[in-house]
Amino acid sequence: MPFYSDEIIEQVRQSTDIVQLISGYVNLKRKGSKFFGLCPFHNEKTGSFSVSDDTQMYYCFGCHATGNCYTFLMKHENMNFVEAVQFLAEKAGIRLPEGNESAEAKRARSRRERLYEANTEAAKYFYKALRSPQGEIGYEYFRKRELSDETMRSFGLGYSLQYKDDLTKYLQKKGFTIDELCAAGLSSYNEKYGVSDKFYNRVMFPIMNGSGKVIAFGGRVMGEGEPKYLNTSETEIFEKRKNLFGLNLARSSRADNFILCEGYMDVISLHQAGFTQAMASLGTAFTMDQAMILKRFGRDVLLAYDSDTAGVNAALKAISILRTCGLNGRVINMQPYKDPDEFIKNLGAEEYRKRLDNAENGFLFEVRILRKNYDFSDPAKKTDFYNEVAKKLCIFEEELERENYIDAVSAEYGIPGDALKKQVISLVLRGGVKLSDTKARADAGAGYQAAKPESDDSDKYAQRVLLTYLAEEPKRYEGIKDLIDAQDFTDPIYHKVSERMFSDMEGGVPNPASIINMFEDADEQQTAAEVFHTKLDAIVTDEEKEKAFRDIVLKVKQERFDHDAKTAGGKMSLDEKLKQKRMMEELRKRMLS
Ligand code: CTP
Ligand code: MN
Repeated sequence: MPFYSDEIIEQVRQSTDIVQLISGYVNLKRKGSKFFGLCPFHNEKTGSFSVSDDTQMYYCFGCHATGNCYTFLMKHENMNFVEAVQFLAEKAGIRLPEGNESAEAKRARSRRERLYEANTEAAKYFYKALRSPQGEIGYEYFRKRELSDETMRSFGLGYSLQYKDDLTKYLQKKGFTIDELCAAGLSSYNEKYGVSDKFYNRVMFPIMNGSGKVIAFGGRVMGEGEPKYLNTSETEIFEKRKNLFGLNLARSSRADNFILCEGYMDVISLHQAGFTQAMASLGTAFTMDQAMILKRFGRDVLLAYDSDTAGVNAALKAISILRTCGLNGRVINMQPYKDPDEFIKNLGAEEYRKRLDNAENGFLFEVRILRKNYDFSDPAKKTDFYNEVAKKLCIFEEELERENYIDAVSAEYGIPGDALKKQVISLVLRGGVKLSDTKARADAGAGYQAAKPESDDSDKYAQRVLLTYLAEEPKRYEGIKDLIDAQDFTDPIYHKVSERMFSDMEGGVPNPASIINMFEDADEQQTAAEVFHTKLDAIVTDEEKEKAFRDIVLKVKQERFDHDAKTAGGKMSLDEKLKQKRMMEELRKRMLS
């Protein structure tokens, strides 16, 4: 793939008029300083999609999709970054440098790109192996599981041969270094045994990111054996909690929902049965990051988790995460079968479609599961249940919505409606219930940053909010520029954004559309772009805003120090620790003066 310099990429972008470009796909009408139309990234009836002449960016007030001319083409036309650059260069009549990649360009190409390539090559290798005589055992395994050739092809399924380091050697011949192969999660090194392939004698499921690049693999034993699935560990290009198996296909399905499953085979059999909107979180619990990715599409999320206890618990967690992000989850009943794969094999696609149509409202599902803990023959337990339900109902802030749920619950469980209503209102007035969920839900409507972050995300959250502040009010940079630097942004994307933003601000104001150019991956572009499109609405008065800004600067700094300490392990010297402590004190003083 060719490599273009930042300058040329920026030149092409500046020669493109985003309003004109998007007008080719979306019917835009001028409203004030912006153009509006129906969002091409989610289903809607009123136009929430805006394109700005000034910033040369688009932003949807409904699904929060945002970006520049490149992002638009990548998302809308499924182009990769290079294709988008070539497309727009041609339109603008700009000649791109030709010829084979120079040695320098090769070096400059990001390491990530190399890791993607290694994974792609590996996927091709596994794919071929499955169709070779030695791979027959894998092919037979898939056939036994009733997968068609067509399904195997569309998921790029493969097989890893029974050699210790065949893939490693093959990829080395293709020019990849051992270091790259280990970093890509394909090979591993061990003093005793040397280098070996990570996967052997397993059927292989390539995992792709949202834009269809291979980033990892899952490998299943054929039959019994531990572990049942072996997956690529986290790498520089594979963050489990930010990816969904099958999303690259599901995103272009015509359905107005997504089906969220637990596993690879569930997704694959659903697609084979015609439900191409299916995808799965990757052998880990569903995360906020994944929920936010789904939110962009503005579709309903239907859960198809296993019907055993573990599956039900996972579904409860997923519903709560979806709710925090402002999404309503519904639950598909697969009884008497365990998962979609079994269900479809036994009852077929038609029957499954009915189950989709009858998927249960997430809140009512929660209440139904809760009910199982209470023995109604004991009036005290029954009262406890009613009280628990009343508390849960407090998460609905809108009266009408709340009343509808009160009606539904009281009808279902024989609770007198008026009594339940009174109880809910008194709880709300006392404020005695945990309203965090309600608050988070309300906030999530205003954008990701305001949603209550998971604890392990909280440092990123602070970094993001600080960048949002600076993007919204660049003049604030003056006051903190000797206190904060790019090193404080430990998240790789925010780090890059901050570096560029700070250098932009030295000379004036940040240029969002060009900052997004620095990222080639659509998901990274989205993450970067979101910084510029979050409203700090939750904060009301100027005074509160000042205080929040101070807090967030301090938080980012403190978390940077914590991060440094963690990275240093036990090795940080006492001197270093004291120095950090003094710096924090100094900073606190400065911020308060
Ligand atoms: N998983 C994993 N590692 C394991 C077991 C499971 O990563 N040792 C993940 C895989 O993504 C798997 C999902 O959890 O697809 C669900 O697990 P399970 O229900 O056990 O597997 P199925 O997908 O149902 O696979 P199969 O039908 O082949 O048993
Ligand atoms: Mn399963």
